[in-house]
Amino acid sequence: MTIDPNDSIPLLTEDVITGDKALKGVLPHDFAYAASTASFQIEGGWNQDGKGPGIWDVYLHENNMDNGDDAVNSYNLWREDIKLLKQYGVNTYRFSISWPRVKPLGGKDDPVNEKGIEYYSNLVDALLAEGITPFVTIFHWDTPYELQKRYGEFENPEKLVDDFVAYARVLFERLGDRVTNWITINEPVIYMMFNIMGMKADTWTEDTSIAYTKSLLLSHARTVDLYRREFKPKQGGQIGITLNVDYVVPIDDSPAAIEAAQDSLDQMFGQFADPIYHGYFPESMYKRFDRTKLNFTPEEWAIVKGSNDFFGLNHYSTFYATGEVRPLKGASGRDRALGLEVRVAEKNGVPIGRRGENGHPYDVAWGFRLLIQYIDKRYLKSSGHRLYITENGYAVDGETKLEIDQAVEDKARQSYYAGYIREAVLARTEDGIDVAGYMAWSLMDNLEWLQGYRSRFGITCVDRSSPDFTRTPKESAFMLKRVFDYLISKE
Ligand code: NOJ
Repeated sequence: MTIDPNDSIPLLTEDVITGDKALKGVLPHDFAYAASTASFQIEGGWNQDGKGPGIWDVYLHENNMDNGDDAVNSYNLWREDIKLLKQYGVNTYRFSISWPRVKPLGGKDDPVNEKGIEYYSNLVDALLAEGITPFVTIFHWDTPYELQKRYGEFENPEKLVDDFVAYARVLFERLGDRVTNWITINEPVIYMMFNIMGMKADTWTEDTSIAYTKSLLLSHARTVDLYRREFKPKQGGQIGITLNVDYVVPIDDSPAAIEAAQDSLDQMFGQFADPIYHGYFPESMYKRFDRTKLNFTPEEWAIVKGSNDFFGLNHYSTFYATGEVRPLKGASGRDRALGLEVRVAEKNGVPIGRRGENGHPYDVAWGFRLLIQYIDKRYLKSSGHRLYITENGYAVDGETKLEIDQAVEDKARQSYYAGYIREAVLARTEDGIDVAGYMAWSLMDNLEWLQGYRSRFGITCVDRSSPDFTRTPKESAFMLKRVFDYLISKE
């Protein structure tokens, strides 16, 4: 019999929070407690009511993979989803808007799909009527396919940025009277990674990485600039980007491991956070990229630097850097996007934490606290910004093989949440860092990109084989409710 290393790791329960008297009511009344989703992963209705095809629709179909034609049918079942949110006691819902649903062809001069706007407008109204604040992501990776056909989408900053900002303008104009929390772009590094691994694997070069980095940063920055100039003064909202990072610690105290850990953070995180907060790229990026190419003009820098109202963070795991660095030649798409530094999840045969489905994520709660401290030191202190945890969650190993009545008993997910939320709260109470929100990923099981439906992050099961996509809450949904009910002050 083989021994599953996950079995030897003790499970935490919510008791690490609700059993700690010192934590009762420590979060402010306006703390954003949310569940989160993304349009392509949940909506389905891929060509309903005038929606155009997105790059993921085309790629997944062409490659005969799990697709988003129906996803979990939230386009039609959104009223039920709001009932779930209500049941789970959240005060905020983070969701994203599908660009090809709002603008089927995507370009600045292309028409708006009124039905698409109506869908999001109804959703926003219904949330507000239930006392739930919408936290809206403008771009969570579903680019209109037409823009890929026209000019290679993000490969072409000259064209893409104008189209992106014109799309964002429509959202501010049509929803900004009611939506006051905006995320420009979700996880730019992972968007780039999926393009390298999938859609553009054969043609990708280091120049493509630079073009994507520019398109992503400039789309974000110009959208923020537009919002601040034309909408914020009357709508009074806030806007920022959401970045993701695995925390990385050196496996030992060798100079090579220490350097690799920092380089890895730079590549995955600093590549976007440093320009926005400091106005330059991390120096280590130039070990690989040409300095004259990975740069902006002074006018562009002026718009990129300072282009955040808050810090949005998606975080799941921590790894060890070994100090070894892979050669670029022959590196996988994943390593080209996330860094060539070798990162492992084991030290002296001991796993860093409980391994999730397909190795994503590992449950390493202590790394979360260290990461929040790192972000505070490098980005929050100088800016005075709040930190919103815009995603955090767990895919239980083997859950996809379970029947629903077993899947709902998601002890490993509850353990993950208990540990991570406790660390985030301690970062606030003990380290004095302004952690202003926590958004669990995800409200429900959904389409996990290239993994399809074979990895489940939901706090709600969705039975895709039933005609009505039956939703069944998992225990973690109610555990989160109890935890935040305990943590958030009533006054
Ligand atoms: C981050 C992404 O934003 C989301 O789309 C994805 O499903 C989760 N991580 C889990 O991998």
